[in-house]
Amino acid sequence: MQYASWMEATGEGFISEILKAAQDPNMISFAGGLPAPELFPDQALQRCFQRVFEEQGKSSLQYAQTAGHPQLRQWLAQQHQRNGKPVEAEEIVVTTGSQQGLSLLAQTFLDPGDVVFVETPTYLGAIQAFQGFRAQLMTIPCDEQGIIPEELETMLKQVTPKFLYLIPNYQNPSGKIMGLERRIALLKVAQAYDLLLVEDNPYGELRFEGERYPNLIDLGDQVIYLGTFSKVLAPGLRVGYVVANPDIINHLCQTKEGVDLHSNNLTQRAVLEFLNEGLLPGHILKLCTLYKERREAMVQAIEKYLGDDVDMIIPSGGLFLWARFKKINNSFDYVQETIRQNVLYVPGALFYPDGRVTSEVRLNYSCSTPETIEEGVRRLARAVRV
Ligand SMILES: Cc1ncc(COP(=O)(O)O)c(C=O)c1O
Repeated sequence: MQYASWMEATGEGFISEILKAAQDPNMISFAGGLPAPELFPDQALQRCFQRVFEEQGKSSLQYAQTAGHPQLRQWLAQQHQRNGKPVEAEEIVVTTGSQQGLSLLAQTFLDPGDVVFVETPTYLGAIQAFQGFRAQLMTIPCDEQGIIPEELETMLKQVTPKFLYLIPNYQNPSGKIMGLERRIALLKVAQAYDLLLVEDNPYGELRFEGERYPNLIDLGDQVIYLGTFSKVLAPGLRVGYVVANPDIINHLCQTKEGVDLHSNNLTQRAVLEFLNEGLLPGHILKLCTLYKERREAMVQAIEKYLGDDVDMIIPSGGLFLWARFKKINNSFDYVQETIRQNVLYVPGALFYPDGRVTSEVRLNYSCSTPETIEEGVRRLARAVRV
């Protein structure tokens, strides 16, 4: 079969291998990015769906507006500001998860060969979305707070990208957070070079400790913001959204029409019921308490079983811990051995579009109990010492 050429560049073969291995009931998987299913508010959501059926009946089963359910857009608009000004509903498009937001942005903005700047490392799903439209991804050097503005400026003097994609809060995969001064410095560079920023923020609400910083979109005009209910409610709902100026939203809607006409009408209304009941803040608090405990368990297990063999970035929120093995060269080489030891991680190389070799790994802690985390890290230590 003659598939499009970009398909050869995807890491899909490897991901499906990991997903297949994760089916084994003896496997401990730190490879996914799954929220803890035991905290899904399934009964509250059941009530919300039920109420939508009872009160909104057939209209919730009908085709609906491409930009999303009007009241949900209104609710979302009220949660945001753009460059210090209130956001209007017309600045929101509801998407089928924020992954669709990435895909719509790629389809709307990118011609083959266009350059997109990304963090080093960056989210695999974004790499896939942008490479799917044959973009050329260029990595910007990062430090412990993410993108280094001076490095960005140096790159901007040489290349003009369509946009810079970044995850300022509890980044996937590195768990890093960008401080306020860094955000301001970054926006200053963006403004000077008329650079569009795509701010992806699935994890910002999952804050265990430390300060809450304003979103980039709160502070600047040239920002497109991606939000989602996947990590704070349930990913299976597939409700995400984009905030941008009305012109960009109109263009995204034009693209979305050809992709799926609109996101699931019934689900958007049920999510809105959940939000109107005021249930989200209490739910997020529960998530943060549980994930903090699990983050703690992972840090302790790493210190206990791997000790000086690794450097790690201890995340102050989100779902992931990023670690670097000091005594090996390539974490890809140990995947088969870890599968034999019944534990899974994602090798760091998958998060670098420049194809580099690295001994880093991404470990997810949200979806395993502290006991399982300890056992998994013990197995991991055994695997990398073989
Ligand atoms: C940084 C980032 N962006 C986007 C997504 C996609 O999330 P959604 O479930 O909203 O499509 C994820 C999911 O893991 C993510 O980590």
